[in-house]
Amino acid sequence: MNTGMSLFSLINEMAMTPDLWEMGHGQDFERRELGLGWTYYGLARTLRPRLAVIIGSWRGFVPLLIGRAIQDNDNRGRILFIDPSFADDHWKDGRADKYFASYGITCIEHRQQTSQEVVQSADFMQLEVDFLFIDGLHTEEQCRLEFEAFLPQLAPGAIALFHDSHSQILSEIYGPEKRYKHTTWRYVEELRGHADLQVFDLAIAQGVTLVQRRPRPLEPVGQ
Ligand SMILES: C[S@@+](CC[C@H](N)C(=O)[O-])C[C@H]1O[C@@H](n2cnc3c(N)ncnc32)[C@H](O)[C@@H]1O
Repeated sequence: MNTGMSLFSLINEMAMTPDLWEMGHGQDFERRELGLGWTYYGLARTLRPRLAVIIGSWRGFVPLLIGRAIQDNDNRGRILFIDPSFADDHWKDGRADKYFASYGITCIEHRQQTSQEVVQSADFMQLEVDFLFIDGLHTEEQCRLEFEAFLPQLAPGAIALFHDSHSQILSEIYGPEKRYKHTTWRYVEELRGHADLQVFDLAIAQGVTLVQRRPRPLEPVGQ
């Protein structure tokens, strides 16, 4: 078994692309530390998702680590990566497949669409999602739209992660004229009021919040 080695090979490959070490996951390029990336990889190794959906990524930090975890599990899972490439041309015109393959990750299907378009697509209702990573447009409204659309498609035990949940930065990623404020945290506040959900923040760097349906309580044990 060389699964541990495969992650470290990926980290070495990722070190060639400084852009992969940005965007608020608490990475440290100099020390090759993944920050929250360790958690994403570890969670995906633990949950062993058959289907992971990732909404939005700058240069693929999250898709690469989840893809590595899936391939290190038993290579039977897959990722649906949704990104219309609004920030720049990086994901346009089928470039994603070649890009991910250059890192040895081949379990990712990219759709150059918005999440709104994907949830309207013919096959959406067939999806059974084990791992959902929400990292597209970091507004309260967009997070609500995505989570509410995907909630019925979440398999038992599935986990949803909201990145940038501990951030109020003014982002200019879509240009200075489209400057907007991160308000993911407001939607996360709303989710805390749902008795059937457990909500856990990792307030590290720009933060990630884990959301999962509450497990059924254990049966009382006789004395
Ligand atoms: C730049 S990333 C955010 C950075 C992220 N924290 C990371 O680590 O990569 C945001 C991405 O979300 C995508 N995006 C914006 N609106 C979206 C939508 N409605 N559906 C899906 N993706 C969207 C953009 O194309 C962009 O690539």
